[in-house]
Amino acid sequence: MFDIGKPSPATAALRPSEYTAALIHVLRREPERVRDRQVLEMGCGSGVVLAALASLGASSLSGIDIEGEAILTGRTLLRQLGHDAELLHGDMWKPVAGRRFDLIVANLPHFPMAHVELAGRLPSWSSGGADGREFLDPFLEGLRDHFTGEARAVLTHNAFVDIERSRAIARRHGLHLAILASVMVHIPGDKLALMTPSVLQTEEGRTIHRYGPHVFADLHIVEIAPAGTRH
Ligand SMILES: C[S@@+](CC[C@H](N)C(=O)[O-])C[C@H]1O[C@@H](n2cnc3c(N)ncnc32)[C@H](O)[C@@H]1O
Repeated sequence: MFDIGKPSPATAALRPSEYTAALIHVLRREPERVRDRQVLEMGCGSGVVLAALASLGASSLSGIDIEGEAILTGRTLLRQLGHDAELLHGDMWKPVAGRRFDLIVANLPHFPMAHVELAGRLPSWSSGGADGREFLDPFLEGLRDHFTGEARAVLTHNAFVDIERSRAIARRHGLHLAILASVMVHIPGDKLALMTPSVLQTEEGRTIHRYGPHVFADLHIVEIAPAGTRH
């Protein structure tokens, strides 16, 4: 029986977000992307995306996170749900050097802001540095080396974090980026106040939409696969 009592502080800090929900929604839409695949999640947080991947029939589950609390919390969740998973503590690709996966998913920190604690989250949760690309770029640069022949990656991508640059990096590695879905996410005032001003200035009215005090932003769920693969 799963205990749904009061969450521990670590579990609360790692609670899923609208980004998590959008990613799981897209993965659930086409379970054949997941069934019988060896999957890796980069930045696995609470472990809930891995739990969703398990329920969709992944043949093996691996997750990486820089935060020790995420590894412990994810291990507990997956064990309680009866799933076998390998959770690795470390920075980006280092824990899986030389290894390849059929499906790699990620909801990386890529909000353009300095590394600060916000809304009870750890500083490593959202911040992607001034341009938002501190983790996105090394993730994209390393992706191809961790792909099996017919692999794919599915990730969240803020529309205000230069999707054309991501497309160009993918292309340089013989990969193609396609947008699978787009949704709007709410950006709370305290988070918006931390956004790098030049990004806000450029993107407001384009990918960031303000209605009085309420602000939303476009979020894409993208797939990256070897060029020529059907998305
Ligand atoms: C936006 S959260 C997403 C968590 C979870 N995947 C979800 O969707 O709810 C980003 C996660 O990436 C982790 N992270 C940040 N920097 C990392 C790095 N350099 N290597 C691996 N994980 C990292 C954070 O600790 C955090 O758990």
